[in-house]
Amino acid sequence: MNKSLVENIINAFEERFQTNPLLINSPGRINIIGEHTDYNEGFVFPAAIDKSIVAAIAKSDNDFCSVYALDNDELYQFQLENIQSIKNGNWRNYIVGVVAQIQKKGLKIEPFNLVFGGDIPSGAGLSSSAALENSIVFGLNEIFNLNLSKSEMILISQHAEHNYVGVKCGIMDQYASMFGVTDHALLLDCRTHKAKPYKVYFKDYQLVLINTNVTHSLVDVEYNDRRMVCEKVAELLNVPFLRDASEEDLVDIKSKISEDDYQKALYIIQENKRVLKAAQKMQENNLKALGELLFEAHSGAQLQFKISCKELDFLVEEAKENPNVIGARMMGGGFGGCTINIVKNNYVNEFIENISKAYKKKFDIESSIYFIKLSEGTHILNHIYQE
Ligand code: GLA
Repeated sequence: MNKSLVENIINAFEERFQTNPLLINSPGRINIIGEHTDYNEGFVFPAAIDKSIVAAIAKSDNDFCSVYALDNDELYQFQLENIQSIKNGNWRNYIVGVVAQIQKKGLKIEPFNLVFGGDIPSGAGLSSSAALENSIVFGLNEIFNLNLSKSEMILISQHAEHNYVGVKCGIMDQYASMFGVTDHALLLDCRTHKAKPYKVYFKDYQLVLINTNVTHSLVDVEYNDRRMVCEKVAELLNVPFLRDASEEDLVDIKSKISEDDYQKALYIIQENKRVLKAAQKMQENNLKALGELLFEAHSGAQLQFKISCKELDFLVEEAKENPNVIGARMMGGGFGGCTINIVKNNYVNEFIENISKAYKKKFDIESSIYFIKLSEGTHILNHIYQE
């Protein structure tokens, strides 16, 4: 829990609106393995982390909503009628998107005041967007007694992103952020939206994230393009989603699709299998095998699905050469952001020192290192602060 973040949000809210707000904490996420499988109704293995968005929210006396983004020092005011997506609206679209999706369900909300901020580095692939969406829908659900279940809330968040931000994302980020379990990763079936928690305790090893601190342009376009390719191949295969196809099915239509699309679809089918294997290896405490799957997943993301970039590849290559790192791969949507590494405890410092230096030398960019704890999903904070 980032106490100073919470205090800054409370102070900013009380200063502006002179009332006591409801406080929501909504975490970012990591993903052990399983990228781009979610919108193929496949499997993913994410976990909520101890980096989050904190939102303070209360009803307003005015006939408009006031939203203050503390980290950007930006205020946005809007009315609840005729909500549209805003061109270059940035964070505003997550807010209006959630509000509009609630309204589309026929639920009534009134004007509200909101202050939010967080410590999830943006562009790092740690899902600050899903955390923000979830914090808003969770807060509005509370203050207007909307009676939404968590499962309904994550769909509202996801549709806000589809329709008001323009990214046709899957459900992984919103799910992990909302349903996270302390010390656990969730093996999530993105078809049934059912998850099984797996305790993450690596004994002599730990998870280390390295942020490339790059985000290549057109990430959204590339993301939506990957989804389109998957849907196109699934249609040709005559299955609802690639989740339903086998490698053999794919071979049968190989002559009808480009080599590029073939490799992309093959990656998804193989990645789904890797996720299930990874959960099994974690259960058996076979960390070496789990790590190997991470390296394999990276190769697939790099060479078949083509969502990596030279900075991510470099970090994974360096990690691979280090005998104290038993697994590493790019994490999240791709084209920048973090790698996730499984590193031997006693060698963590040595590893991060060497890899940061090598990265800086190669690209003249500073990387960032994050140590994370696996945390609980979106929740109310006030009970802690009223003690
Ligand atoms: C982004 C999306 C998720 C998922 C990942 C890739 O984070 O929001 O739905 O597709 O990329 O696994």
